[in-house]
Amino acid sequence: MSLQAVILVGGKGTRLQPLTAERPKPIVSLVDRPFMAYMLEWVASHGITDVIMCCGFLPDALQEVLGDGSRYGVELTWVIEPDPRGTAGALKMAEQHITGRFVMLNGDVLTDIDLSAQLRQHESTGATGTLGLVPVDDPTAYGLVRLGDDLRVTGFLEKPEPSEIDTDLISAGVYVLEPRVLGMIPPDRMVSIEREVWPLLVDDGLYGCRHGSAYWMDIGTPERYLEGTADILAGRVRTRVAERLAAGAVDPSATVASDLDVSPEALVDAGARIGTGVRIGAGSVIGRNVTIADDVTIENAVILEGAQIASGVRLDRCVVGQGAEIGANVRVAGAAMVGDGAVIGAGNTLDHGMRVMPRAEISADAIRF
Ligand code: GDD
Ligand code: MG
Repeated sequence: MSLQAVILVGGKGTRLQPLTAERPKPIVSLVDRPFMAYMLEWVASHGITDVIMCCGFLPDALQEVLGDGSRYGVELTWVIEPDPRGTAGALKMAEQHITGRFVMLNGDVLTDIDLSAQLRQHESTGATGTLGLVPVDDPTAYGLVRLGDDLRVTGFLEKPEPSEIDTDLISAGVYVLEPRVLGMIPPDRMVSIEREVWPLLVDDGLYGCRHGSAYWMDIGTPERYLEGTADILAGRVRTRVAERLAAGAVDPSATVASDLDVSPEALVDAGARIGTGVRIGAGSVIGRNVTIADDVTIENAVILEGAQIASGVRLDRCVVGQGAEIGANVRVAGAAMVGDGAVIGAGNTLDHGMRVMPRAEISADAIRF
């Protein structure tokens, strides 16, 4: 029986507003594909093609974008919760589809962890569950894992207090599990795998697998979304975008002025049209069918499909939503996010994490910092 993956996609992604105002985080565009595509292409690269999606929020939109998964080299089975069941409760809902040892993944991380190595360790220790572990600077927002010399987990603290932190190792949300774990989850209610299941397995079948040099990031905030974009474009995380960029930063169907100054760590996607005097720095994405007028400077900014940028604009570490219109000489910086279809009148400055909601309109010269 081939190995399956179960992916949890239940969160609402509220910290990524307005990008997530009208679509769940797994299908927010990251560089040139939906965020979930990275996860599916990553599991497929480790030979896992049978993927069960456990979702709670807006499954219709997810299904519409991801379809049967074949575009990403996998075959998707959809399991939809009647109400949010928590991380273990969602897995329990998938029980009837699970045929043997499986991989379970939190659906909100960008990573290139060596899943095959973790599977090999799991097999060699005879574990019930093996947690993928990565080091982070501040474990307070994660599940802290204490590891014994024999790779057994000796302690698991979800969202530890600062005073409890005695290691930098956290659970990466990448698990190899034996099907008997399903029997440890009570049915028909909300259950947290971190708070109700891992503690039962501490010192009793739970192991940790260190992935010290892998890339790992939760892209759930505007700052990390921009950082993840730059990391993909620079090849700091192994993804299939690298294959595309090897052919050049500018898609052949884009129309660009001959003086375009574009970093090799940027992407100008299909159908984009770019005027003269434009500079596009590293970590920038010019989405499909975006139009950019003359004398525009872009640094680590993401412009989503069909947006229009007038002349003299400067975009610095920010996101412009689908179909948004940015007026002449506007400056957007400081991880500000402009929602889909919003219209920003000429001469405004948006900064300091400002978020403009979808289709909002800001009149000319209204905002300054
Ligand atoms: N289907 C479903 N139903 N999915 C859910 C539910 C639910 O009720 N609740 C959470 N999820 C999904 C989220 O969408 C996410 O992909 C994953 O489960 C983890 O939930 P988060 O809410 O993102 O948890 P976290 O980030 O605070 O902590 C988790 O991830 C850390 C690594 O990023 C924990 O597993 C930590 O231990 C871990 O370190
Ligand atoms: Mg998370």
